[in-house]
Amino acid sequence: MKVEVKAGQDVRKLVRGLVKEKGHEKAELIPILQDINSQLGYISDEAIQELSELMNIPLSHIYSVATFYRMLSTEPRGRHTIQFCESAPCHVAGGRVVWQKLQAELGLENGETSEDEKWTLITTSCLGVCGVGPVLVVDHDIYGNVTPDQVPGILSNYE
Ligand code: FES
Repeated sequence: MKVEVKAGQDVRKLVRGLVKEKGHEKAELIPILQDINSQLGYISDEAIQELSELMNIPLSHIYSVATFYRMLSTEPRGRHTIQFCESAPCHVAGGRVVWQKLQAELGLENGETSEDEKWTLITTSCLGVCGVGPVLVVDHDIYGNVTPDQVPGILSNYE
């Protein structure tokens, strides 16, 4: 669940709490970034700055990690993020028509967020469950063997 963060102070407080809980070791950087991402909906500049000071890691390194992983975002996203696997095994299993249906239902291109901030649609490389392609992930829910007809039903599962 996302927490409402209205003042910059609260972002710093959140980051301080996470670093205190998980520790200052560099190995904790990704888990901490994941928590920030899930609590704020994205990783803000302010969060990166606070993390850099607390963990003594250069801003540029944190930024490069935060922008490397598709599960993390440095831009605000919708309340629900849909990741669609665009790798070859899912593609040959019928992924293209599922992707077209998703785009048509949501009215979004890859990387876009809906005006009501409900959805963000992104493509991703192999999610490791190629045996059940085409695959899409909504937030943390994985859907396999998806057909175009199933897309509206899947979307209706989310407020
Ligand atoms: S290719 Fe889609 S999950 Fe592996």
